[in-house]
Parts: sequence; structure tokens; C-alpha cells
Amino acid sequence: MTREIKSVAVIGGGTMGAGIAGKCADAGCRVLLIDKDETAVAKAMERVTGGRMPAIDNPESARLIETGTFDELDRIAGFDWICEAIIEDLATKRALFEKLEALRSEGSVVSTNTSGIPLRSIVEGMPERLRRDVVVTHFFNPVKVMKLLEVVPGEDTTPDVVAAMAAFGAEKLGKGVVHAKDTVNFIGNRIGCFWMLSGLHKAKAARGQGLSMETIDALMSAPVGLPSTGLYGLIDLIGLDVMDFVGKNLAVNLPEDDIGRAFTSFPAEVQALFEAGQLGRKTGGGFYRVTKTEDGGKLKETFDLDTGAWRQTREPELLPAHHELASLMAAQDACGAFARDLMGGTLLYAADLVPQIADDIVNIDRAMRWGFAWQKGPFEMLDELGPAALATDMKARGQDLPAMLAVLDQAGATGFYRDGGAEYLGRDGAWHKVPA
Ligand code: NAI
Repeated sequence: MTREIKSVAVIGGGTMGAGIAGKCADAGCRVLLIDKDETAVAKAMERVTGGRMPAIDNPESARLIETGTFDELDRIAGFDWICEAIIEDLATKRALFEKLEALRSEGSVVSTNTSGIPLRSIVEGMPERLRRDVVVTHFFNPVKVMKLLEVVPGEDTTPDVVAAMAAFGAEKLGKGVVHAKDTVNFIGNRIGCFWMLSGLHKAKAARGQGLSMETIDALMSAPVGLPSTGLYGLIDLIGLDVMDFVGKNLAVNLPEDDIGRAFTSFPAEVQALFEAGQLGRKTGGGFYRVTKTEDGGKLKETFDLDTGAWRQTREPELLPAHHELASLMAAQDACGAFARDLMGGTLLYAADLVPQIADDIVNIDRAMRWGFAWQKGPFEMLDELGPAALATDMKARGQDLPAMLAVLDQAGATGFYRDGGAEYLGRDGAWHKVPA
């Protein structure tokens, strides 16, 4: 069966559901947006059309959106894609899926926008038809801005369902579609959260070596091709409450031998901030805050994790060699040691996750570029650093090579990409064309 998605019923009009509904309406699709009751529906439509950043770009698109409450779930019949975007709670999602399955049309595709619940848990014991027609569609917030869409099949999902969802995401919504597997946090957040959570611990060691929080953030931004928020600044944006939730989910669902297990809880001084409710921008400040001064100016302050007090934000202290990936990673000082520890550690972590979380390096690189706005993905960065020499060096030290570095070493390749990025090294050790 080939399937085509032309209409979508979104269940749950919170941050993500409203974003997905708005994006689909902007793409010209017929949309049904359903939420718990009239009040929730009104709030959902306010997210779609109102506020500082409405989910739709074109005000005319709102006409394509019809709304309904949970009492009218039967209206999903006739919609091609049923997209669940309610609260992150397994029992609530399962109860909803049972209702959706009974009401949806034959041939429709069902998805969950879960960020961390395994798909296999959501559809365990559910009817065969649902198990064949279901995928995870993991969008990033804000939906209309973030390019990444991770599509994840379940154990019994048929290829035409994945193909229809991927085609719709790419062609209709203009998303960068990445194919992920049903493993904890999928691709982007698996690597991105490792970077953030291990970063909090590794930055603590770096502070012990004399690096300020400002220097740490300056190193973890432009020099390594990451967004200007750096480490602490990004966590301020996301919020320590979300990071705590993510860490607890990782502690339950990471494989037993995953090195990320060492970092699922916060270092003590960050835990203290979390417990004090100093969560980040959403509470008026976390690691940084901006306040108004009496003369109408702005004061930027840093919460110094080592003294436990606010102080004026300082300029970072970087040398010329710290401004570029390869020279930073080679620097024989505390900045270089920190970059090798955190960025190097994250690259090696990613290199060990094929085929566990993705079938190839291309899906991993794209997820980090499109979901976390990294200028280069982990394997592209490794190529800049010289992965063959790295493998030789690690072997000489008696260290185990991460899976893809071992493949590269075995194949005698000098990089993960060749021909100007047109071909990539597969886990079979052969060269493959990078898909468009
Ligand atoms: P939200 O809190 O903004 O919205 C939750 C929605 O669920 C609302 O429409 C609400 O009315 C509805 N709801 C609340 N209680 C309910 C219940 N008992 N039964 C049914 N519906 C109920 O949440 P958000 O952020 O939109 O998240 C939705 C899903 O998307 C979650 O699974 C979340 O993990 C996932 N997600 C969130 C991202 C984010 O950055 N916020 C990113 C990617 C995925």
C-alpha cells in the first residue's frame, strides 16, 4: 500500500501540539486540533494564532484548523495522520491510543510526539493494525523554527508508514527528517543531553583548574561550532527542571553499560540550585540573569557556582589558539584539557552509538545539526580532527575504540566522509552515497 498524508488530526494543543497543528496548516493541510475541554481548546488556539510567537506564520492558515474536545474524538475518522501530543505520561498516552485505534480510518497513520517514552511501551499489547501503522514523530520546539524531525518505527511498523511520514515531513513541512530507532531519547537528545549532563560534571573539574563559567561557555560555543549559549547558557534556556526529568529518564532507560549513566544526576552545587527553584530563564535566572539597573540599563550577572553568590558577568579568557576546533583540542592548557574532556568525550560517545541508535553516521550528524544547531555533526567534527590518527593514538594507549572508529580503523580510511561529503563510511566498512 502506498499512503499519502494530506490531513492531520492533532490530539493535545500544548506547546508541541499547537506548533505541529500550526505548521501543518501553514503547509496547506486540513487540520483538526483536539484538546481536553473548551478551555484547553481556547488556550491551544491562542498558542496557534496569538502571543509573541504564534505557531502559524500566515494568519490565513487558521481557517484550515477546526477544533474539538475529547468528547468528539470520533471526528478523527477521515484524517490521514493522527498525531498524539499530550502530556508525557505512559498510562495517559496508552489510554488515548486505545480510543484512537477504535475511531480512526483504515489506512491512517498514527504517531506519538513523545520525547522519552519507548514506543514499544506505548503500543505493547495493542491491536496489530495499530502496531503496523504507528511511528514516533519527534519534533523540536519551536516546531516552526527547528528543522529536525526524528521518525522512529516500532517493532511491527510497516515500511510504507515510515515512508509516508518521512515524505510528508520533508516535502510538505520542509523538515530535515532523520531516521532513528526506538532507544531512549532517540538521536538528538541522546547525544545532546549527554553533552549537557556530562558537561555539568566536566565543567566542575574545569572550574577547579581555574576556568570561569564564562570561559567554559565561550569555549563550548563558536570555537567548537556550537550555538552561542554555550553549556550553562543552554541549560538556562531549557531549565533545570527539564534536565532533571531527562536525567531521571536516562537513569531508567540507558543500557546498563552506557557511559552516560555516570552523569544522570547533577553535581551537588547544581542540585542545590535546582532544589532552590533557580531553574533558568523561566524563573528569572539560573546560572545567569539579566536585571534592570536604576538608570534603566541592564546588568548581566553570573551565579558563581564556586562561591554560591551572584557576581557581575566577566569577559571570557580565551587565547587565539582556543578559537578553532582543532587548535583548541590540541591546546596543552586547561582550556584544551576541558575541550578534549567534554567535546572529545561527546564525539567518542556518538561514535559508539552506531548501530545502537541509528543505522549510519549521516542520521547522527544531521540530528545534531538540525536539532541542536551544531555547525558540524560529531563525525564531521571527527573528520576535522583526523580520526585515523586518533584511532592509532587510542590503540597505542590500550583504549577500546568506539564502534565507528573501529570500523574506520579496519577499513584503513582517513575520514568518515569522502568525495566532498558525497559518500560516507557505512558500518559495513564500505562507502555509500549520502542520501539527499
Ligand atoms: P504541554 O504541557 O504544553 O501540553 C500538554 C497537552 O496535553 C495539552 O494540550 C494539555 O491540555 C493536554 N493534557 C494535559 N493533561 C492531559 C490528560 N490527562 N489527558 C490528555 N491530555 C492532557 O506539553 P508539550 O510540551 O506540548 O508536550 C507534549 C508532548 O510532546 C510530550 O509527550 C512531550 O514529551 C513531547 N515533546 C515536548 C517537547 C518540548 O520541547 N516541549 C519537545 C519534543 C517532544
